[in-house]
Formats: sequence, C-alpha cells, structure tokens
Amino acid sequence: MEKILVIGAGGQLGTELTKALVNTYGSNAVIATDFQESARSKFDYCSFKVLNIMDKEAAASLIKEEQITQVYHLAAILSATGEKNPIQSWDMNMGGLLTVLELAREYNISKIFWPSSIAVFGPDSPKINTAQDAFKNPTTVYGISKLAGEHWCEYYFNKYGVDVRSLRYPGLIGYKSMAGGGTTDYAVDIFHKAVKEEAYTCFLQSDTYLPMMYMEDAVNATLQLMAAPASSIKIRSSYNLSGMSFSPQEIFECIKLQYPNFTINYKPDFRQQIADTWPKSIDDACAQKDWGWKAQFDISKMTSEILTKLPLYFNYTTK
Ligand code: SER
Repeated sequence: MEKILVIGAGGQLGTELTKALVNTYGSNAVIATDFQESARSKFDYCSFKVLNIMDKEAAASLIKEEQITQVYHLAAILSATGEKNPIQSWDMNMGGLLTVLELAREYNISKIFWPSSIAVFGPDSPKINTAQDAFKNPTTVYGISKLAGEHWCEYYFNKYGVDVRSLRYPGLIGYKSMAGGGTTDYAVDIFHKAVKEEAYTCFLQSDTYLPMMYMEDAVNATLQLMAAPASSIKIRSSYNLSGMSFSPQEIFECIKLQYPNFTINYKPDFRQQIADTWPKSIDDACAQKDWGWKAQFDISKMTSEILTKLPLYFNYTTK
C-alpha cells in the first residue's frame, strides 16, 4: 500500500493536491503536514501532523514510523517573499529539498515530487514559447534555488536512482486558497476583489504577460506525471508545463464580462522587475510527448468556473 507524505500541505497547491491524492489513494494513504498548526483545520478528511522540513530528525522519524513510500515536498518561499530575505529563503528552499532527497535515499522512498517554476528562466531566456532547454539565468533567489534544486534532483536520480519527478509550474490560480508570496499572486487576488465588488489595485503593469495555469490542470498534471511509468520520465530536472498566458488587463476584461462594474488600477511595485525577467509563454512539448500532457483550461473557461465557485466557497455575499 502507498503511504504518501505531503510537506507544505497547507499552501496554495497543497490544499488542492492533498485532496486529489486522498481521492486517488484513499484517506488512510495520505498524511498532510505543514509547519503551521493552523493548517490542521483544512484536513478534516485525512491525517495531519505539524512538520517543519528544516527539522531533519523529525522528518526522518515520521518517514520511518509511517513507512512512507512517496513524498510530495511542496514547502517553499516564493519569489516575492524570497527577495525580502534571500539567505533565509535559500536555506529553506535548498535545505528542505536536500533533506527530502537524502531521506528518500536512506529510506528507499519509491517516488518524490518536487515543484520547480518558470522562475528558473531569466532576463536572457527567450520570452515567447520558452523551450525546455532554453538558456537560464534566474535573477531571484527563488529562481536560483529552483534551478539549483533541479540539478540536485537530476543528481540524486543519476547517482542514487531516486525516482524524483518535477514540474516547472507557471503561476497557479485556484479559488480554494490564497496565493502565498509570489509574483503571479495578482491573478488570484483579482478574483476575490471582483466577487466582493471592490476595486482592484494591481501590482503589475497592465500589459505584463505571464504563463499561468488553473489549479485543476496543475493537480492533474502532477498526478499524471507521478502515475507515469518511470521509463517514460525522460527529464529528471523538471518539465516545462504550459496552461495559458495572459496580462492583468486581459484577465480584468474577462472578469468584467460577468462583473461589468469591476474596476482596476495599476501600481507596479518591486514584483514588476521580477515579472519582467520571466517568460511570457512556455513550450511544453516534452511533457506532451513523454507522458501525454495537455491542459484543459483556457482563460475564459477558468474565469467562469472561478467566478461561479469562489463566492460560494468563501461565503462572500454576491450580486
Ligand atoms: N507563482 C510563483 C511565484 O510567483 C512562480 O513559480 O513566485
């Protein structure tokens, strides 16, 4: 039987991925963990434990006691928060991953999932349909840690045979939890403002195109990658993954079709400089070829689904 440990389960991705793992493997097969006790309330449907991945001994005893067979290591400090405290972010992002990789080797864990990001690309990478192997010169501590992490994943696979798999997620957009400290967070925040019938002040310029993905696609891509036979995983650093690309003005106009009184203004801050170094769109031909990936959501399908479900989920009073 599989026993799956999710690290950082209380975050934006973990909140939805943990649920999907329980739906796939059953509630007895999944242990959600987060460094914050407050995340416990999200997991009334499976077991929950407090775990700070910087505490290697605690992680090791949990893995041993629970006979963990798979780890989804999602805990990280994202791009915008990372710039405020670079060394702490590096320690957390790299330290956490290396702990997980080491424990995978020591305890023969059969599969590891670790998210990478479009942040591995930098100002000198091609911007349009950025390819899997495009030149990378990340300029954020988050991007640097993701690129280094990709190399470590490859190293552990080549040297120790650790079956570690990874995706370079675009900005993830879901309605079940808030985004946590990234440059693409505006694309989540804007929906909350719209359904609460408040004006939105965007921290990126109106024409800043970035690669984005609806959470359902991100969860499905992850499950699909992890279910694929090891022989079809040809890339052991991390796979480019593409959903959609849009600018703040485009998502605003899409929302406005259902909320005609919605207004936006633009006050770019330090996150603009980060966004300017990232691709505008991504080529995910390798993911399509190796394990059959295809995104299902475009901007309009995503927008209408979020605008329908978000107000009910958060109990907002609506029009
Ligand atoms: N969504 C992330 C961020 O903005 C990118 O991986 O930091």
